[in-house]
Amino acid sequence: MGLSWDRVRSWREVKSMSWAGRNNAVDFPSHRAGHPVHPVVHPVRAHRRSRIQGDESDELVPQMGAMEATVLILDGEWRIIEGDPDWFDLWARRGYEFELTQGQSFKRYCEWCALWGAPEAVIPLEAMRAIDGGAEHFSRTYKVRQERRKLTVTTFSANGGRFAVFSRLDLTELFKLRRDRLRLEGKLTSALSSLISIRDDERERIARELHDGAAQCLVGIKLGLAHLRLKSGDPEVIATAADVSGMVEQYQADLRILTYMLYPPLLEQLGLRRALQALCATFTARSGIDIRLAAYGTAPHRACVVDAAIYRVVQEALSNVQKHASALRARVRLIERPDSVIVAVVDDGVGLDLSQNEGDAPPLGSGLGIPGMTSRAHELGARVVVHNRAGGRGTIVAASFPRQVW
Ligand SMILES: Nc1ncnc2c1ncn2[C@@H]1O[C@H](COP(=O)(O)OP(=O)(O)OP(=O)(O)O)[C@@H](O)[C@H]1O
Ligand SMILES: [Mg+2]
Repeated sequence: MGLSWDRVRSWREVKSMSWAGRNNAVDFPSHRAGHPVHPVVHPVRAHRRSRIQGDESDELVPQMGAMEATVLILDGEWRIIEGDPDWFDLWARRGYEFELTQGQSFKRYCEWCALWGAPEAVIPLEAMRAIDGGAEHFSRTYKVRQERRKLTVTTFSANGGRFAVFSRLDLTELFKLRRDRLRLEGKLTSALSSLISIRDDERERIARELHDGAAQCLVGIKLGLAHLRLKSGDPEVIATAADVSGMVEQYQADLRILTYMLYPPLLEQLGLRRALQALCATFTARSGIDIRLAAYGTAPHRACVVDAAIYRVVQEALSNVQKHASALRARVRLIERPDSVIVAVVDDGVGLDLSQNEGDAPPLGSGLGIPGMTSRAHELGARVVVHNRAGGRGTIVAASFPRQVW
């Protein structure tokens, strides 16, 4: 769609033409044909949305939408038609003596300044050379004297002539904010990582205490009960001792599971893959479900908190398969890539009961398993999804841990 000059009422609109009407011809009404192309407009600063693409400032585009651009409009001979005061002030502020005025050749001016070693002139000159060489558009983010700027040059034709709009954004503050944000994110990630590792150390300590304290004590109690049964001739005492002994055994088994859940010692001894294999074998033996691990890729070096989190995700997912799925088979897939590690547990069971839910989300319940694995993974910047299999029976739990958390 061509832009109509009748619709262009203000400096703001002239500025926005550089974006909205990129490469479009502007149709001037014929009675203006003899006039110098100099719109009578108010030098209003424009807030407008940038559509700049294709260089390092891309990720700043949303913020740039709210920024002011300073604009300079030139004719086909690079003569200045109109411009924001900033374009003129800048050179004066830098101490260049030559005044920049309307009607003057901006190219000659930049060449002259470049001869005097003005770094500000380099990129505009490059833009003009590119457009003289046939380009219709030029865009570059650059650094000059600690300032970050973006220059965009757009050309358009009107009344048989060519025109160019130079649009300059000052990105210095944005780049500073981005650098600060990245630094803070880095600190946050390492703080979270050490928090998780402190928590894991604490769990390991509690597991050891339980193993060395309560578990040994239970062994003692069992020996005592056995002694009692052996020595006592009273059948009632023998029966009670046998009962209590059974309860102790049950408690020993619970304690073993508790300590194991608190701290999976295999993980450190065997590494993630073999620990997962052992976990699958344990669940198969316990539940009768055919559970197997398939691992792909080569294991890159990463922090053990990530391995522990992956292990926990699989552990909880398999425990859910055992408790809720009525499945015959389950598969654990581990895909290790240089930039991420993905783990998925798929079963062929009854699937999630979504009757109370909107969408394919895990059932809301009082369970801690899925919320626990999700928050643990989130702490490490990972995403967890739990949903029903699309093309068949069963459930999928998948988590993807990105490299930046290692
Ligand atoms: N593999 C699965 N197959 C079928 N339903 C599942 C499966 N995994 C989870 N669910 C459903 O999702 C619910 C929530 O699971 P979650 O692990 O959060 O809690 P829970 O297993 O009930 O309790 P907890 O994990 O605290 O012992 C379960 O109660 C169950 O209804
Ligand atoms: Mg659970």
